[in-house]
Amino acid sequence: MQVSPSLLSADFGNLACDIRMINDSDASMLHLDVMDGVFVPNISFGFPVMQHVKELCDKPLDVHLMIVDPQKFIHEVKDCGAAFMTVHYEACTHLHRVVQQIKAAGMRAGVALNPATPVGLLRDIIADLDMVLLMSVNPGFGGQQFITQTLNKVRELRSLIAVSQSHALIEVDGGVNMQTGSLLAEAGADVLVAGNYVFKSANPHETIAALSRL
Ligand code: DX5
Ligand code: ZN
Repeated sequence: MQVSPSLLSADFGNLACDIRMINDSDASMLHLDVMDGVFVPNISFGFPVMQHVKELCDKPLDVHLMIVDPQKFIHEVKDCGAAFMTVHYEACTHLHRVVQQIKAAGMRAGVALNPATPVGLLRDIIADLDMVLLMSVNPGFGGQQFITQTLNKVRELRSLIAVSQSHALIEVDGGVNMQTGSLLAEAGADVLVAGNYVFKSANPHETIAALSRL
């Protein structure tokens, strides 16, 4: 299982220390949650912070934009060293164009779905995607409870990917712990995002290792 720890739950007073831990861990990527206070009812961090993260982090950066009009910031996200740029389905009127622009900028393109957004809406774009991020909580905050219906969405997405011959990874974000993580592994998830469960644990390094063994 690939693990993408979410920096949202790290110690913002000492990000360098937490990023060194990530560098030394089994994490496959580092998940960066950008929030604008409009698309979601919270504001997290933006490009100046991500520029520092880029300098410190050896892992690929997995950038999750919870913002309106994400197409305005493709070049800024690229400049922050993002490997994956994930935009919300609900935030893009012209999703196909945004996905093509992300790829033309040299990043891998992801699309995130809120809990109430059906997987079937991706049918005509799934072949173009490198990642689908299924939100298993309503986006905006760390530490929320996993929404169980996400397991059905993972199974449905797994079969949509198979019939479309898509290579998209299935990433799940929100309320991930060992218990929900093992159900997600069984359902067919490829990447688990974990914020609170990693950073509030006694030994984050070992928690990442345990999740990656799922
Ligand atoms: C929520 C963010 C998540 C968040 C997950 O809006 O997209 O990435 O950090 O946090 P946990 O793992 O604590 O639910
Ligand atoms: Zn996220």
